[in-house]
Amino acid sequence: MAGHFRRKIASKLFQSFSQSGLLPKSQETNSIEKLASLVKVKKISKHHTLESGQFLVNSQHLNNFLKDDSDPNHKLAEQVKDCLFQDTSFKELGITFNGKFFNFTFDPTNITEVILSSVYKEGSKYGFTSHLHQTNDQTEKQTVVIEYSSPNIAKPFHVGHLRSTIIGNFFSNLYEQLGYNVIRLNYLGDWGTQFGLLAAGYHQYGCETKLLADPLHHLFEVYVKVNKDAAQEIDTKRVEEPQSLYNRSREIFQKMEKGEETSLDLWKRFRDLSIKEYQKIYKRLGISFTEIHSESMYSESANQLLQHLRHTGLLQINEEEGRTEFIEIPDRNRNSKVTMCKSDGTTLYLTRDVAAALHRKKEYNFNKIHYVVDNRQNRHFQNLQAVLKTIGEDWATSLESDFHIGFGRIIGMNTRKGKVIFLKDLLDEAQQQMLSKRKETSSSKHVADEMAVADTLGISSILVQDLKERRNFDYTFSWKKCLNFKADSGVFLQYAHARLCSLKQNCAIPLTHSVDAALLKDPAALRLVLHISRYDEVILNSFLSFEPFHVVQYLFQLAHLSNQSLHSLVVKGQVQDVAQARLLLFHSAQQILSSGLRLIGVQPLQSM
Ligand code: ARG
Repeated sequence: MAGHFRRKIASKLFQSFSQSGLLPKSQETNSIEKLASLVKVKKISKHHTLESGQFLVNSQHLNNFLKDDSDPNHKLAEQVKDCLFQDTSFKELGITFNGKFFNFTFDPTNITEVILSSVYKEGSKYGFTSHLHQTNDQTEKQTVVIEYSSPNIAKPFHVGHLRSTIIGNFFSNLYEQLGYNVIRLNYLGDWGTQFGLLAAGYHQYGCETKLLADPLHHLFEVYVKVNKDAAQEIDTKRVEEPQSLYNRSREIFQKMEKGEETSLDLWKRFRDLSIKEYQKIYKRLGISFTEIHSESMYSESANQLLQHLRHTGLLQINEEEGRTEFIEIPDRNRNSKVTMCKSDGTTLYLTRDVAAALHRKKEYNFNKIHYVVDNRQNRHFQNLQAVLKTIGEDWATSLESDFHIGFGRIIGMNTRKGKVIFLKDLLDEAQQQMLSKRKETSSSKHVADEMAVADTLGISSILVQDLKERRNFDYTFSWKKCLNFKADSGVFLQYAHARLCSLKQNCAIPLTHSVDAALLKDPAALRLVLHISRYDEVILNSFLSFEPFHVVQYLFQLAHLSNQSLHSLVVKGQVQDVAQARLLLFHSAQQILSSGLRLIGVQPLQSM
């Protein structure tokens, strides 16, 4: 793997710096590892031609690494350059400097040989085992809790939940591949006054047959109607009447919080039926969870927490707001009062989240926790973090900004049925669109299970469109882009992957890793090899910046490069040695494409 070359450069740098006295005391331990992480493979554009394998080190990064705090005025840049250029062993590596980067050049045959045989041997582990990922020397497996998806029962699964599901699944896969113990958690919204309202609405508008046939749509129908009624009540100032919807639903929810069986029965049915529907969709998306928790699980512990906080004096009464209770956040000037209990004594979304966080810490004793939730809840998660600290949870002080992994909105995601997204409708539509597009496209093969292939393609397209930009950006959903077979879409990646698989199946050449790498001298081959060797860097970038798009953009380029090479580097009909070398190259590209697709949550297709 590229690690081999990074390490080689890093140990030479280390030797050179130690001998010339440039290495400060503070950098003596793990230096080679740290230096290796500064070595990058030269990124190549689609049309760039390279004669040899090139690795770069940013000189500013080197200076930062060598900076000696006891001697701040030290003029490092020149010295580093002198040191490296005087060291004759670097001449062998081929070193140049362009004012910003040190550039190390390797013999392409050597690189090709090392990289292709590592991909062959490491298979699906390639890219994840690199020393680049061993950021610390912990020997014990670290645990990370990732909460994602978390839809609400009885309100539609909106695009925020879709993005949370896709992004959360990506990070769970990534952490798992990097050797963490990952708790994938789904936290259903199944509690709160709105459930009182829904129950009241169901008494009026509910229909058993419809509920059983299609629970999500029917509950939503009731939800819309009853919310309309509630809004009318406000307009006509009937809210205060004892039998108003508002009062009835509050009463129902209060009873639910007290655990009254009859009020809970209906809620339980809504909940069970909705969960069953969600499970079907998760299965279709290939997404699973370690645990399904829900807000209602924390109704009791949230009440106990409030009791405890009253005892310790942390909870204060806000006389102005009808006796709600709040916690004061000490280090805030504005918005320092965070409400924890409503005036009628019921808990809030935040209260339940605090109780849930305490439970998670106790249950999993995690090293890290992430909440993958839409940016609209930024404030909520700032409050959650602040309350945890204020009530004396020490672990919460070390939480970083990645506690909440937010993301932007999707604009214009509609299905033919309307503006409100039911995930099932969206997936059905994607599948239908793929079916008809495939009929029009001559290159599509006829496959046995056309429906299943169309479904996978539809899902791939939605996933890729979602992950291909920075997560904080809003993006406009476009069927046209989703369905683009030629560039930068999920179908495009699947198509490139299937082409590679079909080459492997049909070339009638046995795959072996002992090939003559000197036969892969063509610039197209070298470009592909070098791109493959960047995989571990890209994974690390995604991991450190919490940005899936690095991986997706990398895969687009991999697909372009491999499509180009498939044109110029024919396998069939070549002399055996050449054919085998090329086949190993394409096998590696297919392995990485497949690994990257699985990482982003897409099931790679063998043929399409
Ligand atoms: N169910 C919530 C919603 O749809 C999202 C839950 C986010 N997670 C949390 N721990 N608060 O708005």
